[in-house]
Amino acid sequence: MLRSSGVLTLAHACGLLQGVALAAVECTGTFKSISASEYVAAINPGWNIGNTLDATPNEGSWNNPPAKAGTFKDIKAAGFKSVRIPVTYADHFSGPAPGWEIDAGWLQRVSDVVDMALDAGLYVLTNVHHDSWKWADVSASGANLTEIEERMYRTWLQIGEKLGCKSSSVAFEPINEPPVETQEQAAELNKLNGIFLAALKDSGGFNTQRVVTLVGPSMDSIKTSKWFEAPTGYDNPWALQYHYYSPYDFIFSAWGKTTLSDADIAAVESDLEHIRANFTDVPLVLGEFDASPLNTEPAARRKYMDVVVRKAKELDTAVIVWDNGLDHFDRDTKKWKDPQSLEILLNAAAGVSNSLSDYTTDASATEQSSSAYVFHKVGDDVTDQKISISLNGNTLKSIATDEGAELDASTDYAASGGDIIFKSSFLSTYLSSEVPGSKVNLTLTFSAGATAAVNVVQWDLPKLRSTSSKAVAGAALRVPVTWAGIHQPAAVKMLRNDGVFLFDDWTRYLGPLQAAYGTFSGQWNWDGGDIILTQMTVDAVIAAGVATTFTFDFFPRVPGNSLNYTLTV
Ligand SMILES: *[C@@H]1O[C@H](CO)[C@@H](O)[C@H](O)[C@H]1NC(C)=O
Ligand SMILES: *[C@@H]1O[C@H](CO)[C@@H](O)[C@H](O)[C@H]1NC(C)=O
Ligand SMILES: *[C@@H]1O[C@H](CO)[C@@H](O)[C@H](O)[C@H]1NC(C)=O
Ligand SMILES: *[C@@H]1O[C@H](CO)[C@@H](O)[C@H](O)[C@H]1NC(C)=O
Repeated sequence: MLRSSGVLTLAHACGLLQGVALAAVECTGTFKSISASEYVAAINPGWNIGNTLDATPNEGSWNNPPAKAGTFKDIKAAGFKSVRIPVTYADHFSGPAPGWEIDAGWLQRVSDVVDMALDAGLYVLTNVHHDSWKWADVSASGANLTEIEERMYRTWLQIGEKLGCKSSSVAFEPINEPPVETQEQAAELNKLNGIFLAALKDSGGFNTQRVVTLVGPSMDSIKTSKWFEAPTGYDNPWALQYHYYSPYDFIFSAWGKTTLSDADIAAVESDLEHIRANFTDVPLVLGEFDASPLNTEPAARRKYMDVVVRKAKELDTAVIVWDNGLDHFDRDTKKWKDPQSLEILLNAAAGVSNSLSDYTTDASATEQSSSAYVFHKVGDDVTDQKISISLNGNTLKSIATDEGAELDASTDYAASGGDIIFKSSFLSTYLSSEVPGSKVNLTLTFSAGATAAVNVVQWDLPKLRSTSSKAVAGAALRVPVTWAGIHQPAAVKMLRNDGVFLFDDWTRYLGPLQAAYGTFSGQWNWDGGDIILTQMTVDAVIAAGVATTFTFDFFPRVPGNSLNYTLTV
């Protein structure tokens, strides 16, 4: 019912469709053959140009302008070896079934952007992206599988024809994160991998020699281990691609989670080990993963970056970091949002040890510390402050301010192994006023690996313009805030005044910094001067019919650094 025999039948069927001619491209020049394992070794690490050609309906429709050649040069200069270019075709079909003609201008644009990346000296992996839920969702109820198969074939036939003469630095991926819930749907996806290869074969060019990264169910490591079966009867060198956004609650700031426990770290390592153990002789690509500086705590984020990239490297798995344009690289200012995350990624991918800032890993803690910061509360005496670094075999070489002034290792701080005590005399020079905010960023340089950053922040309790209002249905609520320290909330607790959790009663089994807490983006958010309770949250209060207290926690997550806001009904 699945795999190659079905594929051949389909290819024949497509060839017989009226008005649909099979055209095979012929290329001049030669193709430098590369095996899938050589390819995977060469692309590590890579960067995703996310929310760009994959945006719908058009490139430029989301938060990024169209791709520019300069961005690929910047990415290459930063140290990346490859770029994944996700492309959504769904809104660029100019013809109906059964031909599914793709707009020639769009195919040309894809080809041009691929060339920009190649010209910058990068390997390129390109795909068919949000089509996975727009028309290729085999898990949708009533999905017409025949139509999905035909359209997949026609889509890849045309991409194959257009890009068929590109060099062996270009690899293809059939479809991004195809939704799959059942074994039957997984069998259909296995079939689609074969249809993709059949289309490439029929499209000519160098496409049967080209590396492809096949995809398993949802590109989830567990479902892939369970249900992926490679199509047979094709010559392409192939790798297997999966994506990894786990632990979900840390990556997406769900349920108040702002830290990573030792168990979380162990789970990340074992997830990566498990998929490797299931595919011992298959080159693996971790084509998307991310811990965004937008919403994750810096010390935990940097630890995560190190663990994923280092473990992947150990398991011969190439990594391609996701960047939606807001996450990591500012394509206009050419600045990295978290330069340490970048350094950690590059060093871990090269197998070099990184020294990492410690942070509270105890999930049941009532407060959290982070050695990515020295926090000082407005009005408190300035005292010596200690941070801890896990040196991981390195030694501390120097500490400098962002102006490049080097600190004195006897008068400004004292270091013993990874414990560094900043002297009150040194800190006082930055903490003399009562003005809250970030005062200085210190850069710690080690004998090898990434630098560590310590942000010296003076904090005070932020101020809310008002502390309660009556819930108004159908819209998000903006609560104006005057920040005082770090300009973002850490987490938001959502407790009805009758003691019931507004959402997710099961979070009562989590620690005190998570029980009754909501989820970033879906339930709360923030921007310049507002904390935002989303429409979903406001409507939940109205549906409950009970006044609800929202506790906004700020960084540092310590007693006394929270404010309450009550929504009445
Ligand atoms: C499914 O798609 C095929 C191919 O486009 C078409 O011939 C068939 O009528 C469709 N079936 C249904 C139930 O719509
Ligand atoms: C294959 O992956 C599954 C799911 O992650 C895991 O339970 C299993 O232990 C893995 N197999 C091996 C041999 O590690
Ligand atoms: C320190 O770095 C943080 C994060 O990049 C930044 O927001 C802050 O403004 C910096 N502080 C200073 C004093 O430049
Ligand atoms: C904030 O609200 C919580 C209940 O959600 C309550 O326990 C706490 O005492 C309140 N804090 C202040 C400062 O009112």
